Amino acid sequence: MRYKIINEAKFGEHELMAGKVLAVANEKGGVGKTTCSVQLALELAELGFKVCLVDNDPSGDATTALCGNKVPTVICQGNRPEATANTIKLYSKDSEFEPLEISKNLSLLGATDALSLLKGADMEPAYDFCDSLDMLREAYDFVLIDCPPSFGLLFTAAMLGCISGGVVVPVIPDDLSFKAAKKVKNRIDQMNDRMHLGLQIVGVLANKVVNNPMPQSVKHYLSKLKEEFGDIALDTHINQTVKISDAIALQEKVSNYAKKSSKPAKQITAVTKEILTKLES
Ligand SMILES: Nc1ncnc2c1ncn2[C@@H]1O[C@H](COP(=O)(O)OP(=O)(O)O)[C@@H](O)[C@H]1O
Ligand SMILES: [Mg+2]
Repeated sequence: MRYKIINEAKFGEHELMAGKVLAVANEKGGVGKTTCSVQLALELAELGFKVCLVDNDPSGDATTALCGNKVPTVICQGNRPEATANTIKLYSKDSEFEPLEISKNLSLLGATDALSLLKGADMEPAYDFCDSLDMLREAYDFVLIDCPPSFGLLFTAAMLGCISGGVVVPVIPDDLSFKAAKKVKNRIDQMNDRMHLGLQIVGVLANKVVNNPMPQSVKHYLSKLKEEFGDIALDTHINQTVKISDAIALQEKVSNYAKKSSKPAKQITAVTKEILTKLES
């Protein structure tokens, strides 16, 4: 068997939510894909879900966010056989993989730049990736995929793999990230038209929202979000704050670093709940 189930999945009261894959994607870097993937994963794990975070970006930023600079051998050995917790293993049907347990409810498949070897027109690795995700869905309530900031095989594989859940698209209040988010939406619409996939965007999430006071330009972008994306624009957003960038740099959950009652922690909880509600409907 390719995948050794480490722990029996405990679905408990959330049985109906089992086995969903969420990809966090935008064709633009710096919008908070990794921040949102990691904080969403930590939040869902704290809510009692069993979560596997798949770092699908050769930069390995989500891996650093959870492991620091001491990346364990099972990840840092790249595509060698002993690297059983490296995402690259998901792309080959001949490889065994076993996510690395980070905490009670959270495991990680980490990335190294070995992932950047995967490119080209051959779709076989993307199909193998989807088969691997199906195996992970048997053991986890949520599989979160942190995507690279570009279209290509890694992005396509993540899109094909998240039909059971959907895509979360973080944007920041500026034209470039909105434009890139539109491109992601068009790409998804195109995949749905051509392949009848039923892939959905669960939410477009405004991140790095400057507040206190909120500049006129940011107000403009928040209303533009609703105009341009309609129902898929999330009502909740995340403010720009050093509490979030510090928490990520220190490999901490925002609610541990900045306290549960702090605004950033409450915003991340609210975003997570809105995404859960959207998935239920
Ligand atoms: N809400 C936020 N407030 C402050 N800094 C943030 C926030 N979200 C992300 N960042 C910072 O912005 C940078 C880019 O975020 P990251 O999640 O790596 O983006 P991406 O994965 O889209 O490239 C990082 O330094 C991160 O700490
Ligand atoms: Mg990133």
